[in-house]
Order: sequence, then C-alpha cells, then structure tokens
Amino acid sequence: MKTTIAEVYKHVGEEVTIGAWLANKRSSGKIAFLQLRDGTGFMQGVVVKAEIGEEKFQEAKSLTQESSLYVTGKIVEDTRSPLGFEMQVTDFELIHEAVDYPITPKEHGTEFLMDHRHLWLRSKKQHAVMKVRNEIIRATYEFFNEQGYVKVDPPILTGASAEGTTELFHTKYFDEDAYLSQSGQLYMEAAAMALGKVFSFGPTFRAEKSKTRRHLIEFWMIEPEMAFMDHEDSLQVQEQYVSHVVQSVLKNCKIELSILDRDTSKLENIQAPFPRITYDEAIQLVKEKGFDDVEWGDDFGAPHETAIAESFDKPVFITNWPAEIKAFYMKPDPKRPDVVLCADLIAPEGYGEIIGGSQRIDDMELMKQRYEEHGLTGPAYEWYLQLRQYGSVPHSGFGLGLERTVAWIAGVEHVRETIPFPRLLNRLYP
Ligand code: 4AD
Ligand code: MG
Repeated sequence: MKTTIAEVYKHVGEEVTIGAWLANKRSSGKIAFLQLRDGTGFMQGVVVKAEIGEEKFQEAKSLTQESSLYVTGKIVEDTRSPLGFEMQVTDFELIHEAVDYPITPKEHGTEFLMDHRHLWLRSKKQHAVMKVRNEIIRATYEFFNEQGYVKVDPPILTGASAEGTTELFHTKYFDEDAYLSQSGQLYMEAAAMALGKVFSFGPTFRAEKSKTRRHLIEFWMIEPEMAFMDHEDSLQVQEQYVSHVVQSVLKNCKIELSILDRDTSKLENIQAPFPRITYDEAIQLVKEKGFDDVEWGDDFGAPHETAIAESFDKPVFITNWPAEIKAFYMKPDPKRPDVVLCADLIAPEGYGEIIGGSQRIDDMELMKQRYEEHGLTGPAYEWYLQLRQYGSVPHSGFGLGLERTVAWIAGVEHVRETIPFPRLLNRLYP
C-alpha cells in the first residue's frame, strides 16, 4: 500500500511503500540507515543485511544522495526521532540515480546555497521554514474567514504609487507607464466600501536599495481593510490576528519548530492584548537606551526598533507618529494634528516592524490638501478621491509583511530564507 511519511502513524505494524528521496545515509557492515524525505516529512529507513540479503544490502550502501526511490517496509514506533516512527526496509526500487548532488551534508556558504536555492529548498531546515510559512497563510485565511472578511485581490500592475514614489518598479504598459504594486491598500479601501471587511494576500514590490536581513525586493503582504472601524478597533483586530497565527503555528508545526530549534516558550506568551506606546514615549525609551542623537520627527532604524522590543516580551505597537514621516493617506489625530492615527507593530527578539497600519483620511478636502502637499496628480489618483466623495465613512486597515512574520515565528535570522525564491538587491536568480 502506498502512503506518505506524514501518514505513517496510521500504518504502525503494516508494510507500506513510500516514494522518497535519499537525504542522507550512514552504514556499517551489517546495517544501513537511510534518511528518507518525501516532501511531507523526514523518516529513517533501516536496512539490515541479514534480512534483505547480500545483494540488495550492497545496493542500499551504494545509493547516492538525492536519488529517488520507492521504499517498502514495515512501520514501527521510534521514540528517538521527532517523527516518532521509522521503517524496517524490506525492499526498494531505484527510480532515478542522482550523481554528485552539489549540497552535501558538510557546511556551505550562504551565497553557494542561495545560488542553489532550487535544490536547497529540499533540506530539512528550509523544508521546515516553508511549512511554517504555509501554516501562517492557512491560519490567516482561517482567521479572516471566521471573522466575516471577504478576500479581495488588488491588481499588481498599477498606474500610481501607494507608498511614496521613490521605491517604484517601473514598466511599460503598452503606451502608458505602469508600476508594480507596492501595496494593494488604495484598492482595498475601494473594496471595503463595497464589501465592508476585506483582506488581500499577494506579492508587493519595493525597489529599495536596502541590503538588510529584513528587506526583500518582492515580498508578500496581507492587507485587511475595514469600513466603520477606527484605529482602536483596527489595533484589536491586529493583536487578535497575530495571536491566532502564532498559536496556530505552535499547535500545528511542532516538528518543524523543533527542527528549527525555536525557543517556543517565547511564542507561547504571544496572546492579545499587546502593549502600546506612543511615538513620543518610544523616543523617550530609545534615548534612555543610549541613543542620545534621536530627535522627535526621526524615523526609527533597526537598532532603535530592537532596543524598543527588548523592553517587552510581546509585540509592541508604536502609535501616533509624526504626520510628516508617514504616508499621505493617514488621518490626523483630532486632538493633535501633528501626529497621525497609526501604528507600527514591532516583533519581539529584534525581528523589527511586521505591521504598518492606520486610520485613513475620510474627509475629501483634507485629502485634496494632502495630494497638493505630496504632488499627487492625474487620473490614477482621482478614483481614490471619489471614495471620499460618495458616502465616506471612518475606515482603517493595515499590512502585515509575511516574510518578516515567518522569520520571527520560525526564528530565522534573515528574510531570504522565508520565501521560496527571494528577490534581493543582488539576486534575481534562481
Ligand atoms: O509599512 P508598510 O510600507 O505599509 C503599507 O504598505 C501599508 N499600505 C499597509 C496597509 O496599511 N494596508 O508595509 C507593511 C509591512 C511592513 O510592516 C513590513 O512587515 C512589510 O510590509 N515590508 C517588507 N517586508 C519585506 N521587505 C520589504 N522591503 C518590506 N517593506 C515592508
Ligand atoms: Mg511601515
């Protein structure tokens, strides 16, 4: 009977066949241990010479790394492996012999591994990271579907910038100019006026010349947008959403988190509500932490964010930023118009900003004024203004960066390992 490694727990004591690749192998004169992987997981296959016979045993010993096989054997419990099971191999059939697989069990440099990303994805750690990423996506759909949100897909090719004009990817659109989307937000605002509570999940692009462990050129963003919700309502959605995602990974990715050596005690604590500090308080805090040169009106860099995160054991919201360093669409605080109703959510343990969100300007005249201040003109922006002309309502939304969230939850140092094929400043291949 054919099965998969993920399903072997249903077949204890039975003989089954699994299509697999040979990840690794060690052997002695009488016994060979095959580290098998089939995409669903990793499992050890034990080949005993006395049972399988001399000829087949020699064949097992000569199998090469990443060769593909059909392996048949009996499933038995094995408390030492993370899976909890192993296979006593009774037979195997070589499908394809892999010769000189470039990624050997020895250490390789990052550039070499990134050049072989199409193969590196097969390794145990990368496999675990992709599974955590998948669980975060699954839990995202679950959370927003349960809360009555409608999934809406904004366009990738756009006629205007959503998040400032300096980081745009330009392309020709027949005779017109087009840009790759930096954020679906403006379209999601239109969708919220049609469907109430909406969320998107898709690729976004930033032509940022940043070469840090938190920046990708192409990254995936989850962007909820809610009509009739103010900024406080939105903060509550954000903390509940992030808590749900973390708790889902803890529950459904136990093997992966153990492969990744993740300290799960730091994740167990991630439950709403999250602490909140204002930008003013954050400035105070970083000054106390020894950054004397930081002034009101400055943006925070990675070292500042890490210093702030150190004071909390949960993600922390930094609210009410100066209007001049935030996007044109953010609503000013009525009590204090030099700051806007917005928040960045900073992940613990130095993983940086994972969410940017705000209440949006709903007043037509104020939005027109912002257009003038930011030099936003042309038909690409006119439709967005009309959302304020016809039945404008208070509304809020946010964007969660998937790769930074995966990096934090999986405990991976650099975002390049959190997306199957990262697009980086110096990398468009493989
Ligand atoms: O803070 P950002 O720029 O916010 C927006 O784009 C809003 N329009 C979202 C909204 O309100 N609908 O980006 C949101 C998040 C950041 O907090 C970060 O997690 C991630 O997107 N992000 C990046 N991730 C990887 N590489 C980059 N270059 C990123 N830039 C932003
Ligand atoms: Mg931001």
